[in-house]
Amino acid sequence: MPLPSPGAELDGAPPVAVFSGTLREASGADVWALGFRSVDGEHLVGSQVADAADLLPAPVADVLSRARARGAVGEVVEVPVHAGDGAPESVLLVGLGTGTATDLRRAGAALSRRVRGRAHLAVAIGADCLGGDLVAAEERADVAALRALTEGLVLGGFSFDLKTQPGQAAVGQVTLTGVGEGAETAVRQARVTAHAGWFSRALAVMPSNVKNPAWLADRATEVAHAHGLECQVWDEPALERDGFGGVLAVGQASVSGPRFVRLDYAPEGAGRRTPHVVLVGKGITFDTGGLSLKPSDSMAPMKRDMTGAGVVLAVMAALRDLGCPVRVTGLLACAENAVGGAALRPGDVIRHYGGRTTEVTNTDAEGRLVLADGLAYAVDTIEPDVLVDVATLTGAVRIALGQRLGGLFTDDAELADQLVTAGRSSGEPVWHLPLVDDYLERLESRVADADNAGGTPGAITAALFLRPFAGSVRWAHLDLASVGDSPSDQFEWTQGATGFGARLLLRWLCHEAATGRKARR
Ligand code: BES
Ligand code: MN
Ligand code: ZN
Repeated sequence: MPLPSPGAELDGAPPVAVFSGTLREASGADVWALGFRSVDGEHLVGSQVADAADLLPAPVADVLSRARARGAVGEVVEVPVHAGDGAPESVLLVGLGTGTATDLRRAGAALSRRVRGRAHLAVAIGADCLGGDLVAAEERADVAALRALTEGLVLGGFSFDLKTQPGQAAVGQVTLTGVGEGAETAVRQARVTAHAGWFSRALAVMPSNVKNPAWLADRATEVAHAHGLECQVWDEPALERDGFGGVLAVGQASVSGPRFVRLDYAPEGAGRRTPHVVLVGKGITFDTGGLSLKPSDSMAPMKRDMTGAGVVLAVMAALRDLGCPVRVTGLLACAENAVGGAALRPGDVIRHYGGRTTEVTNTDAEGRLVLADGLAYAVDTIEPDVLVDVATLTGAVRIALGQRLGGLFTDDAELADQLVTAGRSSGEPVWHLPLVDDYLERLESRVADADNAGGTPGAITAALFLRPFAGSVRWAHLDLASVGDSPSDQFEWTQGATGFGARLLLRWLCHEAATGRKARR
């Protein structure tokens, strides 16, 4: 029996609506949630708690004290409620920690887990208990709080399965109550951003018997139609014609042939001075390692080796809804790294787009081979202002940084600063790692311009391998192999594939990138 219909399971994210009225006026919600903080042993609950007062068995401060609540992020205290007209089935009090954006995102996610399978959640964040400028300097505290909370509420409820008896899905709908003027736009943007995170995660979770390169290219075509983007797909003959030697070499053993996809977004009224960013995503739909075969434990999670391409696709899908001010081209370099009689061999020399050659000493270092084509293509045909590649590239970056921090490589200090800042504020943090020239000798080959597996330090030699393909264009490389999967349900992450990177890039493109060099000229 055929597995899922194309694309159908990719969006189960709950709708989040805003409402200026009270909890009670948000009729029909079966769960109410109120935020609270604990400061110096005193519990602070927003004034909207008045709405629930007659439902509670005691004053809310007493309820919290009795429950020994500490106000920690994501702490959820369930209060028994009197049944009555318009009364919800449950009232939840949710700890907001210190009230920072990070804490609110995490609180939203914890709440979302708690209300899985419920029909309708109405939330009163209680912005008046957040206290002044705790959340973000550039935005009103209540607005920034709602933005972060919304992202957490959506992402914490992520689920995806192909079970005949489906597991518990996210809450059916969420209403944010008491949301005043000026916050609607922020909540709408947060919803779009969170959906991008959801979409990239769903793409990464999809099993590889469904998700082959052609399937990914089809999803890209759908996205292009739905969001007004230009789209071009290279199949094998087109890849041969244009010399995409890296993508072809990696994909040559698979029964599902490789694809290269280009998506173009231009903002309304774009002109010559509009900065142009190109994103290149590693789209290995399954990584066996090729003839340099992976051991089975390392191979098992490799359906998510297309996370970079999934992230780029999810970003492209969100740009118009967010009104992104810069031109963006997304390139997806898709191939399945399979084993077979036609497979790429250790020792083979391949010729990338544009002519540079690589000696393939390890067929498991395949991501850099497909990215190299993408970078070279971008430099040759687009002349971008900035080039960023996104990939689950090396196991080494995970050893260096663990599973909560992505790796960032760039020689451009301003770009590093922008991406690190975007990572921190989006909840997808990255750490700037060095491109050390002294390790360049490890990439030397006797027969080609470079060796694809220069050895340790693995994340750095991989980044150094990519650098020449970016030519003189400002370039950054995100090695997200560290954060491509989450060991547990924690914060806004669900166990398994994360789709990490979409929120970071959207934040950068819609805020920081627009203030880059060209824009200031
Ligand atoms: N897809 C892997 C990297 C990876 C490892 C992603 C763990 C997610 C979790 C990549 O293609 C790979 O196999 N890299 C090799 C490179 C080596 C052969 C030079 C690695 O990191 O071991
Ligand atoms: Mn590999
Ligand atoms: Zn790989």
